[in-house]
Amino acid sequence: MTEPSATFLLFGATGDLAHRMIFPSLYNLLADGLLPDDFLIIASGRSEFTDEEFRADIDKALRKFLAADRYDAEIAERLRAIIVYQPVEAGNAAQFKALGERLDGRLDKGVSVYLSTPPSLFAPTAQGLAEAGLITPKTRIAMEKPIGKDLASSKEVNDGIGALFAEEQIFRVDHYLGKETVQNLLALRFGNVMFEPLWNATAIDHVQITVGETVGLEGRVSYYDGVGALRDMVQNHVLQILSIIAMEPPARMDPTAVRDEKVKALRSLRPMTAETVKTHSVRGQYTPGAVGGQIVTGYADELGKPSETETFVALKAHIDNWRWQGVPFYLRTGKRLPARQSEILIQFKPVRHSIFGRNGGSGLEPNTLIIRLQPEEYIRLLIMSKRPGLEREVHLEEVTLDVSLTAAFAGQRRRIAYERLILDLLAGDATLFVRRDEVEAQWTWIDSIIDGWKEAGVKPSPYSSGNWGPSSAIALIERDGASWND
Ligand code: BG6
Repeated sequence: MTEPSATFLLFGATGDLAHRMIFPSLYNLLADGLLPDDFLIIASGRSEFTDEEFRADIDKALRKFLAADRYDAEIAERLRAIIVYQPVEAGNAAQFKALGERLDGRLDKGVSVYLSTPPSLFAPTAQGLAEAGLITPKTRIAMEKPIGKDLASSKEVNDGIGALFAEEQIFRVDHYLGKETVQNLLALRFGNVMFEPLWNATAIDHVQITVGETVGLEGRVSYYDGVGALRDMVQNHVLQILSIIAMEPPARMDPTAVRDEKVKALRSLRPMTAETVKTHSVRGQYTPGAVGGQIVTGYADELGKPSETETFVALKAHIDNWRWQGVPFYLRTGKRLPARQSEILIQFKPVRHSIFGRNGGSGLEPNTLIIRLQPEEYIRLLIMSKRPGLEREVHLEEVTLDVSLTAAFAGQRRRIAYERLILDLLAGDATLFVRRDEVEAQWTWIDSIIDGWKEAGVKPSPYSSGNWGPSSAIALIERDGASWND
């Protein structure tokens, strides 16, 4: 690993993500003494601000978005002191030149560029940097999703950036990889002896991945409509979780070894067709209803017109490799669901032969492992235990081996996912970033679903806000004799 970058150059610095996540993360890193000496943050956006005006704006954001007990005026002042603001619009050479002046003498100490802008500005921004002579082998570039809207457009974005940066310099952000609980999946699988021997088609019946949200459009109409849940959530976050659950053990925890294994799993996803989307996918769109006791409007009302964008998707995926043959992965995500709840459920197969209750009724159930990612963080293993008593026939009951990570690590602040990612970007560690071949494998599978939907004319079915999607999502899994863990 090289010396950490001494400069963080943020494009899109006036945007929502910067206010909510990036500056609070930088604040936390500074507070913990994790930023390099002589660190400078160059914030950039289209609007005109003086350094002072922008710093005041960031101070407001910190007060609003930091956890209540975290804001400390002295630390905020230290952060403000290392922020400068430079207006830059793509295509404006004079502004890139002015940016170059801000970077004078700093290029050799490494620059981490962060693109928190609409993707249409990724390539023009990189081009502007190149023309101003601001890209060196010590420059890294991070980009937020979405990277394209299908395989072809993602290739265009990657080609545009790839023409100016080597792959090792490119850091594609999937903020789920910055979440402690997602990284913990690696620890659970590869830091314990008892799971890996069972982590395959011999012992596992099926896997469920749920990423549920209670929020609706949240003023993101212009981005979300036409994109939908499949592209917004499954293409990136859900498939990244799937790849970590499904991958072979990497030889070591380094960017190449981990990402090589993830991409192999992603490439093994069985493409969908116009025929299989009918039985293996469900699209939904929320209508008025109630979430958490609050009456909420429907998607079309929020949008102000009817739309064919899905706000919910459920899928039955197959991974065609040796390990997972015949093990369905049921995936679902959506907005305006009953709970903000992300979890992975591993349903094991029944024991090979039951010695209990030959006449049935012993209560024997297959084991289940539940990994709750958010809002609570826990790992629960449901195991069989004898119900105490003197009955001649053994009666079994499910009991829970319960590990609350929140309790086990009480007193340790749960960090914002972006803290990990920014720190890794500055240090040049790409393990928790998405490599180009992963993005492309993800899009290849997603495209097969979108093409299937188009060909088969699959439209979103309505579901009342506050429900787990349309009833067909329940049928998708129940047809196979399983059910969602709600
Ligand atoms: C983003 C999606 O990537 O992830 C949003 O664009 C979604 O639509 C968000 O709400 C969910 O992230 P988190 O961290 O709140 O689960």
